[in-house]
Amino acid sequence: PAFDLVIRNARAVTASDIFDCDIAVKDGRIVQLGQGLDGGAREIDAAGRHVTPGGVDAHCHLDQPEPPPVRMADDFDTGTRSAACGGTTTVIPFALQHKGQTLRAAIADYHQRAEGKAHVDYAFHLIVSDPTPAVLEEELPALIREGYTSFKIYMTYDSLKLDDGQILDVLAVAREHGAMAMIHAENADCIEWLSKRLEAAGRTAPRWHAHARPMLVEREATHRAIALSELVDVPILIVHVSGAEAVEQIRWARAHGLNVFAETCPQYLFLSAEDLGIDDSYEGAKCVCSPPPRDKRNQQVIWNGLADGLFTVFSSDHAPYSFDGSEGKKPGGEEVGFRHIPNGIPGIETRMALLWSEGVMAGRITPQKFVELTSTNPAKAYGLHPRKGSLAVGADADLVVWDEREFVLSNGQLHHNVDYTPYEGMHLTAWPGITLARGEVVWDGRDFTGQRGAGRFLHCGMPTLMPRRRG
Ligand code: URP
Ligand code: ZN
Ligand code: ZN
Ligand code: ZN
Repeated sequence: PAFDLVIRNARAVTASDIFDCDIAVKDGRIVQLGQGLDGGAREIDAAGRHVTPGGVDAHCHLDQPEPPPVRMADDFDTGTRSAACGGTTTVIPFALQHKGQTLRAAIADYHQRAEGKAHVDYAFHLIVSDPTPAVLEEELPALIREGYTSFKIYMTYDSLKLDDGQILDVLAVAREHGAMAMIHAENADCIEWLSKRLEAAGRTAPRWHAHARPMLVEREATHRAIALSELVDVPILIVHVSGAEAVEQIRWARAHGLNVFAETCPQYLFLSAEDLGIDDSYEGAKCVCSPPPRDKRNQQVIWNGLADGLFTVFSSDHAPYSFDGSEGKKPGGEEVGFRHIPNGIPGIETRMALLWSEGVMAGRITPQKFVELTSTNPAKAYGLHPRKGSLAVGADADLVVWDEREFVLSNGQLHHNVDYTPYEGMHLTAWPGITLARGEVVWDGRDFTGQRGAGRFLHCGMPTLMPRRRG
């Protein structure tokens, strides 16, 4: 046979087009798009269903070591299995540098964690927490050349945060070497001050997490991040934007011609501060993440930003901690004060279907916009395009055939290793019917069919969201 696989009667969706075609695959790549393609060793009849590029989840946390007893529930095995079953075929988790650690040591550690375990292709963002002269002058430039072309920096969390001077230093490296800097924007001192007051008043239930991190702490830090990037004259990408006041800062930056990109996540569309609890119940710990979910009005602002181009990337920020047991939301088996609840929620498997259901099916965004946000743009932002994030001849055959059907979501259907989903009981109208990773079926609509270790490490090229600076 001429091809390994032909997907017939696809309603193909790209970031710009929708067209009916057959898709021929050979050696893991798309080799032909056309009508009436014949000669596949294997055939799949898409029967007019939408076929999109596989998801690129550019913000997820897998197997990051934590101070005991806390432990992330997903490693590269369960995390990428869950991704595949939810239509995501490329993940970009983080390699986190601890203070005092070299970047090389951090990268080596995470490669070991991923090696032989991943079911889908993966790259790494660095988390730079200790920008020593050796990191700034030697390690970072060398690693950027070797295919680690993006890094995250934090303005909050004691163990990770950089001060403004350090942020300027790191941004200057991003500028000089063309890397993409991702920024977690929350004002650490405001959070600390508020948290202490809440604690002193005995307000320690999960719901007070949202009061310790109000919108203004995100607004201020977002503004400051924009100013720092303007000073250095370098693009940045603000991650997990939660609501209106941060969006306003980003709109302001764009209106002034600055290359400020933004990411948002499902939790800011589908959860609100009330999910952290309306009383002192500990259930709310399930939805503790930073920034915290806001309210209905802010959710609408996020939807508007997805539809109108304010947001470039839609990621999960999957940060997997189980609820019961002693390793997750109840460290040591105890219900702890909000400051000690591990931050983050699971969502690597639900990201795509939530946005297809409530975005595309509900008429809030076009199918093309869906592809742009979940796949094409993240691939461009982090130097993986056009091999990833595109449905075109020559691209990897990472594809999703969509099933449009109504069902009620429950954690039992999911393949992560977390014991809950924040979206339990949600009515969805679509789910990936088939996921293909480099031409192999990894999810057939009922079962995970991938292979441990089949996922390969991807060296990232330079970001291609904006033209390269010359000279
Ligand atoms: O609460 C969150 N988002 N946890 C994950 C770490 C991060 O800041 O993205
Ligand atoms: Zn449809
Ligand atoms: Zn963050
Ligand atoms: Zn994160």
